[in-house]
Amino acid sequence: MSDWSGSGPKAPWVEPGGFVHWDRDMTACFAADLTLDDCGRLLAPAGQWLPLDGPAGVPLRRLIGLDSTGPLRFGYGGWRDVILGVQYDGGDGARITVGGRAVKNVAGYDLCKLQVGSAGALGRLSAVICRTWLAPTAAVRVALAPRPALARELVATPLRPQWALLTPEEKSDPLKMGEKVFRFHCQSCHTVNGFNGIKFAVKGWQKDFLDIQIQNLNQLKGYMPPFLGTDEERRALVEWLYSLNNPPQQTAARR
Ligand code: HEC
Repeated sequence: MSDWSGSGPKAPWVEPGGFVHWDRDMTACFAADLTLDDCGRLLAPAGQWLPLDGPAGVPLRRLIGLDSTGPLRFGYGGWRDVILGVQYDGGDGARITVGGRAVKNVAGYDLCKLQVGSAGALGRLSAVICRTWLAPTAAVRVALAPRPALARELVATPLRPQWALLTPEEKSDPLKMGEKVFRFHCQSCHTVNGFNGIKFAVKGWQKDFLDIQIQNLNQLKGYMPPFLGTDEERRALVEWLYSLNNPPQQTAARR
């Protein structure tokens, strides 16, 4: 029988491939080598799911390490918001347990959240305990013109939108899309023109150089995460970053 809470040395919560579901508590423990598809399949009998985005076939260990995300974040948040506990093997081989089955176990620094986006730097994740949600029985998809204020109005209504994605109009305008990508992936640390401003950081950089730097973002300075967007999003980000110091309309006006 596993020890699910408290401190001190602990046996592994689950074996590789393992899964424990406390369906009435809406929590579950997953081995870190499972994929999101596995999680969906394992939770389905109880009518529950883990509402997080990430590429298919990739183990949770990697998804959490790179903080995978997508349109569901709008309604459910990211890994940071669903993880209650983790077990991982630290550099010296010791098994480390942080957090547990219940939110109340989290006292003081919520260290398990550090695993999110740590890209394995803190050790090899072996198991994770997450909140689970009731799987929706139906869904309605609505396409609206890109107007952020509208999203804010809708959130407060009983409609409670859970999923949001760039519309094709935005996708057809790389500058608009690039700005969105920046807000999503970079704004937590960079402003546009103020503290750690990105405009200044990329001054004089040509597009192909920008593209290479973003592809190697985690090696650029040592404290940036790898860029996790798609190729299309990266190209849009390049266009937008380039436009900061080379505004397209200004070039036209000078002619
Ligand atoms: C976790 C925080 C964080 C995130 C997220 C982040 N950055 Fe940074 N970035 C930094 C810091 C800190 C610096 C360095 C500031 C300094 O050294 O003066 C930096 C520097 C840079 C530089 C300048 C590098 C150089 O060689 O001078 C560029 C370009 C850059 N970031 C682009 C990005 C882009 C594009 C994104 C989003 C895809 C991003 N960053 C996301 C923290 C972050």
